[in-house]
Amino acid sequence: KTVYVINGPNLNLLGKRQPEIYGSETLADVEAACRQAGAAAGVEIRFHQSNAEHEIIGWIHQAREDAAGIIMNPAAFTHTSVAILDALNAFDGPVIEVHISNVHKRETFRHHSYVSLRADGVIAGCGTQGYLLALQRVAALIGAD
Ligand code: DQA
Repeated sequence: KTVYVINGPNLNLLGKRQPEIYGSETLADVEAACRQAGAAAGVEIRFHQSNAEHEIIGWIHQAREDAAGIIMNPAAFTHTSVAILDALNAFDGPVIEVHISNVHKRETFRHHSYVSLRADGVIAGCGTQGYLLALQRVAALIGAD
């Protein structure tokens, strides 16, 4: 079974951008950890990042065809994008929302998530480990192995 891991804007700068908030691991490190954990859980990982909303929506549409679940860190689009919410509402499998930082400890504009209206689970404030926790959950929900 295939799981998409989709990352939103500015996450290409992970490790360099505000490391006091997001840590020093890069997105390539996160991808490698997801692939390793995916292989152990019997899940094929497709890992994506874009700064463009339309590209993220395209991957969610593609996931309708070939993915059993979606792990998503929508980054700033979390708080702004009805279009991403609508796309996720057209996807049938489990969706787990991940935030590296604890958004609830930060500015109030980060407290609301459009994506949470669809997500089956939300992980925030667990650092990049949150992706692996999300993978564990998706694997359990899709019955991987
Ligand atoms: C983030 C939190 C968002 O509020 C922010 O815009 C991001 C990253 C996180 O992983 O903590 O870019 O999604």
